[in-house]
Amino acid sequence: MADTPSYDVVIIGGGPGGYNAGIRAGQLGLKAAVVEMRATLGGTCLNVGCMPSKALLHASELFAAAGSEFAELGIDVSPKLNLPQMMKQKGESVGALTKGIEFLFKKNKVDWIKGAGKISGPGQVEVTSENGTVTTLAAKDIVIATGSEPSPLAGVEVDQKRVVDSTGALSLSEVPGHLVVIGAGIIGLELGSVWRRLGAKVTVVEFLDRITPGMDAEMAKAFQRSLTKQGIAFKLSSKVTGAKTTKTGVSLTYEPVAGGPAETLDADYVLLAIGRRPFTDNLGLENVGIERDKRGFIPTDHWKTSAEGVWAIGDVTLGPMLAHKAEEEAVACIETLAGKAGHVSYGLIPSVIYTSPEVAWVGKTEEELKADGRAYKVGKFPFSANSRAKINHETEGFAKVLADAVTDEVLGAHLIGPNVSEMIGEYCVAMEFRAASEDVARTCHPHPTRSEALRQAAMGVEGWTMQA
Ligand code: FAD
Ligand code: NAI
Repeated sequence: MADTPSYDVVIIGGGPGGYNAGIRAGQLGLKAAVVEMRATLGGTCLNVGCMPSKALLHASELFAAAGSEFAELGIDVSPKLNLPQMMKQKGESVGALTKGIEFLFKKNKVDWIKGAGKISGPGQVEVTSENGTVTTLAAKDIVIATGSEPSPLAGVEVDQKRVVDSTGALSLSEVPGHLVVIGAGIIGLELGSVWRRLGAKVTVVEFLDRITPGMDAEMAKAFQRSLTKQGIAFKLSSKVTGAKTTKTGVSLTYEPVAGGPAETLDADYVLLAIGRRPFTDNLGLENVGIERDKRGFIPTDHWKTSAEGVWAIGDVTLGPMLAHKAEEEAVACIETLAGKAGHVSYGLIPSVIYTSPEVAWVGKTEEELKADGRAYKVGKFPFSANSRAKINHETEGFAKVLADAVTDEVLGAHLIGPNVSEMIGEYCVAMEFRAASEDVARTCHPHPTRSEALRQAAMGVEGWTMQA
């Protein structure tokens, strides 16, 4: 073991969990290495997730707006799609971001060990590089941050040609005539929106009787209405039973969940987006006695696994599969193993769907409050009554605030409309400080801004909304 490289902490996986853990460890003076088998750092989020999808959402939103909304503002244009350029700018942005993580590693003295990591025993990580060379690293602590992968569906084989997962749907070389999306969740609706805006007919087949499970039901209804107006068709309460692929398309069979005759949908491409599952293949968990739960997640208690000195964070553990959740856990885990007090406010992890309109929320939904038997009050405010939204001709959507009926503490904030991804942070801060709705209602907001609608919704909790 004399020439075994030795670290305070070895992190397996270089996504938002892993790279933030590496950087925080470096900042705290720990000798840290991140093992990543992909050719670039950044994990799912930077390479094939958050970033490329947002690049296409942004570009396709402008393309659609140029075709339908600019004229109202006195700008006459006839946009023409240049799909190769749209894909190229996406790739360039992603490349710049992944290089940025390399830069941050150098700055914080974090080693990137390229290859596949496996826990070979307590305090030991074996790394197999692309050319087959095996190196063993010694580590006081090991952090597992190996992320997740798309969940498969029996009878629907992903070939990344005609039947794609999110990675394939981010790189189609043509606009599909008809795209069928399986799953009305975040990926299905974000990527379905991208291709709809670029001209595809889009049909979404969903198992449940509603879209976006987990979202407040009132928001989900408004969201579905808006997407339907944009031309996205929904087949709810429907179960896909198989897909037959030819060179030019896919024939998808589905049937009502409640039973009934099977039907067929002919598609040019099918996007399978029914959720993601934790990724722990060939990780050597058995070598340190870690057992996964029924769904494959690594159980943790304050980021500690059942094995001494082994921690787990991000998508591979329970909780929302979100980059900012992985990032929060990374910082808290490293601070804890460095002897500090790590903390994550699990009840205040915001969610955003970056469609048009966007949907953003934090805290409890009405359904959750009802299930908890908690008495609450509701304040709402429509963007159609917000002056900035009116002058910008962007009046779709509303803000809804839920507050405790007795203490007035804000328990949930739900927004639908343009740009709400940038506005939900206000409620994250307010709720982190356990604000009452009156605290938000009595906070001066700049005029004219869309954020005034958030204040007005808080005023609505006590019924003194002034602008509607
Ligand atoms: P990952 O990012 O998956 O990183 C894990 C890394 O570990 C990977 O790079 C993998 O190659 C590596 N790895 C795995 N096993 C090994 C091994 N044995 N050895 C070495 N390396 C290994 N979240 C948001 O918050 N906002 C968004 O807008 C958003 N958009 C998304 C869009 C799409 C299309 C997808 C698919 C996901 C999106 N997500 C988004 C989710 C987000 O990408 C994940 O929650 C986040 O990446 C999880 O981070 P992680 O570090 O846990 O895992
Ligand atoms: P999801 O969990 O958001 O949605 C999956 C949908 O598929 C659900 O509505 C579910 O009911 C449905 N479904 C499940 N099985 C089905 C079946 N057999 N037939 C038809 N429908 C079925 O999962 P999705 O969209 O794949 O995204 C995975 C995760 O990636 C998200 O949960 C989220 O954590 C992350 N993500 C986050 C984004 C963001 O923050 N903006 C963007 C994209 C992904």
